[in-house]
Amino acid sequence: MAFTEIGLSRLSDAINEDRLWQMHMDMAKFGATPKGGVCRECLTDEDNQARVLLAEWARSLNCTVSVDAIGNMFIRRPGTDPTADPVATGSHLDSQPTGGKFDGAYGVLAGMEMLHAMNDAGITTTRPVEVINFTNEEGGRFQPGVMGSQVFARPEELERMLNVVGADGVLMRDALATFRAMAGPMDERALKSPYASFVEAHIEQAPRLEETGNTIGVVTGIQGARKYQVTVTGEEAHSGTMPMQRRKDTVLAASTMIVGLYQMMEDPADLTRFNVGRFQAFPGAPSVVPGQVKFSIDFRCPDDTLREALGCKIASLCDALSGPCDVLVEEIQRAETTPFDPNMMDIIRRAAARSKAPSMDLLSGAAHDARNMSALCPTGMVFVPCKDGISHNEAESATASDLAAGARVVAQTVAEMAG
Ligand code: GLV
Ligand code: MN
Ligand code: MN
Repeated sequence: MAFTEIGLSRLSDAINEDRLWQMHMDMAKFGATPKGGVCRECLTDEDNQARVLLAEWARSLNCTVSVDAIGNMFIRRPGTDPTADPVATGSHLDSQPTGGKFDGAYGVLAGMEMLHAMNDAGITTTRPVEVINFTNEEGGRFQPGVMGSQVFARPEELERMLNVVGADGVLMRDALATFRAMAGPMDERALKSPYASFVEAHIEQAPRLEETGNTIGVVTGIQGARKYQVTVTGEEAHSGTMPMQRRKDTVLAASTMIVGLYQMMEDPADLTRFNVGRFQAFPGAPSVVPGQVKFSIDFRCPDDTLREALGCKIASLCDALSGPCDVLVEEIQRAETTPFDPNMMDIIRRAAARSKAPSMDLLSGAAHDARNMSALCPTGMVFVPCKDGISHNEAESATASDLAAGARVVAQTVAEMAG
């Protein structure tokens, strides 16, 4: 049965700004940093504690919790037709090492606030409604990011991901076992289980909403990305004795490559995004010429042709600038620019208008789990402003009223899709 305008407005009105804000503050205690952000990397003690609290909150709302083989958590509020495919919202509770309180947590907590509001307003849906907490969206500890949703959408990648070794030497498989032991028994959820639709709320992580005075971003899609790991191998040597000409210095070779790559990525149209966020020299001692360097490449661009052309030149450029060292360039993730479902965008626009929140369309520069979910079901995203567009930074900040505005849009969108 379709929701009436009155039903949707009643649900929207039941969203409680203070309660949603308090949930953010409660979650932000897990991994809280002195600078006001969070360090809650995937499946660390802090992330696991946040996951356990989320499950407790879910049960107190009379919802069930299940978990899949990559640790994604599914919180379900039943509908009147238990055989119908659910409608879902959600995001991730894991953070970057110096992350903020809102990247990811907001999408999960907006979903939890939606469940509260549905209970408070006495809303019954035909389809079950779910809130998903995806595993390892950020990819700081275990590469690559958006791992949980990627495995959910492509179960054939499970084994490869379980064997990923984290930056701290822990195997993904073992980190998951630690979480499962801490969380206790939970129902198992099959990977790739069907959904009727998915919508994710997130802070924008860019300044366009703030600059234009809009409260809601109707996300049109996510720009494509290619991620690489580069390993440069040379020869360890004594820094005081080995003549410069005879060295196989991997830091020199890697820095030359990186400067070359930045030059190649220069783009007057300002479409490309290129970042070397991790650079490690081994053995990492001041008096040893480093025999190995590993560095990451995160390269994104919405123009598929340009991204493919530049991406395909990365390995040959590294090779050409490797000097006396050897270089191995491994591509660890590749995603096309992903458009979202036009019907979902319409529903999100209408929901924003119904709650009188000014909205604009925008493309996401950041990756999100919604990209992977869009391969399975009609998918959309709702952005809200964050201060100065700052994210992946402990200073990340958003207002309680904007967060609530986004939650109203999510709740209406889910309700409309859930019937
Ligand atoms: C997600 O945090 C991303 O890297 O875009
Ligand atoms: Mn995020
Ligand atoms: Mn992030």
